[in-house]
Amino acid sequence: MSNRTCLFLTLAVLGLGLWGVSAPAADEKSPNDAIDKLAETLQKDPAAAKKQAGELAKMDTDDLMGVLNKRKKGGEGGFGFGPKPTGEMDDSIEKKVESLGDTGNPPLTAAQLAKESADLQKMNQRVAAVALVVAAKPAPKTVGAKTVPAKDLKKWDEFTEMMAKSSQELNRAIQDKDPKAVQAAAKRMDGACKGCHVIWR
Ligand code: HEC
Repeated sequence: MSNRTCLFLTLAVLGLGLWGVSAPAADEKSPNDAIDKLAETLQKDPAAAKKQAGELAKMDTDDLMGVLNKRKKGGEGGFGFGPKPTGEMDDSIEKKVESLGDTGNPPLTAAQLAKESADLQKMNQRVAAVALVVAAKPAPKTVGAKTVPAKDLKKWDEFTEMMAKSSQELNRAIQDKDPKAVQAAAKRMDGACKGCHVIWR
């Protein structure tokens, strides 16, 4: 089985294991809408999700990753975390994953985890959808004027797979209501984000 096939199966299993994201807007104008639509497809029909992700792969990486960036007041920008824009710097999936996985912080309390559970699942399913699109993108050979060293190119798929696997772990940890496991999975996820960014961002 190729790495890609293996990664896809991981994502497919993950998709089936997660529960619903609320229905996205019918139009697909923004990357946010496209990713929500993919997240929804991913849990119902992994083969269709793979096809959909292939079509989204021509999206600029900048636009794609932007869904994980800060949400702005008025609903512009990335998804943010939770239902309401806060206007704070940390209102992004990126910062939420970072703080959840920071072992310098105590893990969430059981009560916090219960309260955030639905929002965490939604966040996680969006990350899984982004990973599926990233998996359909070839590793960029250059970053600006810089050439990516040949030995680093294979890390694109490695970090993408780590992103997908950590998402699977996070899903399980949330379902198990296990704050320590949530922290561990988020730490791995953050490591995948940062590992790839060191080379490509
Ligand atoms: C396989 C590689 C890869 C992985 C894994 C990855 N990223 Fe990225 N990310 C990129 C690249 C490449 C860029 C730069 C895009 C550009 O500016 O063209 C980027 C840019 C970003 C940006 C800035 C987008 C913007 O608004 O311009 C955010 C936010 C981001 N990533 C969040 C994340 C988070 C959160 C994760 C993990 C859950 C993650 N990324 C995992 C490759 C990756």
